[in-house]
Amino acid sequence: MGRRDATEVFSEWADKGKDGGMEKGHARSVHAMLELAGVPRDSHYSAIDVGCGNGWVCRRIAQDQMCTHVVGVDGSARMIEKAHSIDEQGEYHLAMLPDWTPKQTFDLIHTMEFLYYLHDPQSMLKMFNDEWLNSGGILVAGLDHYLENEDSLSWPDALNVHMTTLGIEQWKTAMLDAGFVDVEVHQVGQKENFIGTLVLIGKKK
Ligand SMILES: C[S@@+](CC[C@H](N)C(=O)[O-])C[C@H]1O[C@@H](n2cnc3c(N)ncnc32)[C@H](O)[C@@H]1O
Repeated sequence: MGRRDATEVFSEWADKGKDGGMEKGHARSVHAMLELAGVPRDSHYSAIDVGCGNGWVCRRIAQDQMCTHVVGVDGSARMIEKAHSIDEQGEYHLAMLPDWTPKQTFDLIHTMEFLYYLHDPQSMLKMFNDEWLNSGGILVAGLDHYLENEDSLSWPDALNVHMTTLGIEQWKTAMLDAGFVDVEVHQVGQKENFIGTLVLIGKKK
């Protein structure tokens, strides 16, 4: 049997209320990622959360008074319905990536636990750099499924979903090949039996 679409699986998770558990589980790493991204405190910025699930990170970013506009995008219909039901005024798009491009460009792209669901995450990184970011804009991406996190290597079979498994150096190379500068790699949110969320940060020239 072929692999299932990740977005279908996550719609089921939304129906079962498991999006709340993801929010709880990811919050510590996302907090660290937003700190590390180092959004300038003296100027306004726009942001997008890619693979936003129920949109909780968008709502968190929207609390920052320096953020003038925040957008969420996700390919799961039920996640986006939830996002709209929690936050009627918010801008959330139901769209499959990489087949969607936003109508505007952004100063910050945040993405948590999304990139490896793509068959070609390297091309998505290049699209972020070439088409989605303003000059000087920042991408911050968090990944819990990566080669060095051995516990995560069973996830594709456990969920029957495609995941592109890359190691830390391969992710760093993908960022550089995509054209990002000032590339940084971190691991955050370590706890017992968890080597941490891999965080990639890069700037568009
Ligand atoms: C592990 S969840 C993370 C959700 C959210 N970022 C969070 O941290 O709670 C991954 C999300 O990526 C979305 N996703 C996966 N593949 C996608 C694709 N090709 N296009 C759009 N969304 C996708 C799923 O629907 C799901 O909501």
